[in-house]
Amino acid sequence: MMLLGSTPGWPAVLADGPVLLRPYRRGDAEAWSEVRVANQAWLAPWESAPPGPWADMNSPRAYRYVYRDMSRAARRGDSMPFAVCLRQSSGEERLVGHINLGSIVRRAFGSAYVGYWVDSRVAGQGVIPTALALVVDHAFGSGGLHRVEINIRPENGPSRRVVEKLGFREEAYHPRYMHIDGAWRDHLGYAMTSEEVASEGGLLARWRRLRTTAK
Ligand SMILES: CC(C)(COP(=O)(O)OP(=O)(O)OC[C@H]1O[C@@H](n2cnc3c(N)ncnc32)[C@H](O)[C@@H]1OP(=O)(O)O)[C@@H](O)C(=O)NCCC(=O)NCCS
Repeated sequence: MMLLGSTPGWPAVLADGPVLLRPYRRGDAEAWSEVRVANQAWLAPWESAPPGPWADMNSPRAYRYVYRDMSRAARRGDSMPFAVCLRQSSGEERLVGHINLGSIVRRAFGSAYVGYWVDSRVAGQGVIPTALALVVDHAFGSGGLHRVEINIRPENGPSRRVVEKLGFREEAYHPRYMHIDGAWRDHLGYAMTSEEVASEGGLLARWRRLRTTAK
C-alpha cells in the first residue's frame, strides 16, 4: 500500500560487495566536484551538460544546486538519484559515480529511465553493472516499477557492453534523440521488464552468475 506523501522505494541504501549506492548528502560537495572535474574528457561526450564552463558547473558551489534539484525530484517521486560509492578496506567509502532512476511514471506505465557514469580511475571493474543490477532489482521490488529503459549513443561501446552483458533488450533507434556534446545525437533504446528476470531471482542474481561463469 502506498502511503500519502511517501515514495515507494525511496530513500534506500543498496549494496553488493564493495559497491554501495546511497542517497546524496550535502557533505558530498568536495568529493563530487573532484571526481567530476577530474573526468571532464571522460564524461563530456556522453552527457547533456548545463551551459557554462565544466569547472564552474561541477564546482563544490554548483553541487549545492545539483543536490537541491536531485533532492526535490526524489521528494516528488520523479527520480531516485544514488551516489555510487566503493567501500575501502579501511572502512571508508569513496564516491566514484552516479546512477539515477529518472522520469519515473507510475500507474499503467510503471517505468523509469536509468542514467549512470563512473570515475575513469575505476572503470572496467564491473562497478556500474553491479550498480545497475542493484537499481533494477530495487525498481522492480520496493520501487514498484515494471520497466526500466536506458538510452545510449551507438558510439558508446563501454555503455552498450554494460547493458548487453546484463541482457537488456535492444528495442529502438531514436534519431537525433538528445542534445549532447554540441549536437543532437542518435540513441539506441534498451529496456527490461520485471518478467524478464523474475525466474532468475532478479538481475543481481543473473549478474553474479555471469561473473562466476566468466572466471
Ligand atoms: C559506461 C560506463 C558507465 C561503464 O562502467 P564500468 O563500471 O566501467 O563498466 P564495466 O566494468 O562493465 O566495463 C564496461 C566496458 O568498458 C570497457 N572498459 C574496460 N576498462 C576500460 C577503461 N579503463 N576505459 C574504457 N573502457 C573500458 C570494456 O569493454 C568493458 O566491457 P567488458 O570488460 O565487460 O568487456 C563507464 O565507461 C563510463 O562512465 N563512461 C563515461 C560516461 C558514460 O558513458 N555514461 C553512460 C552514458 S549512456
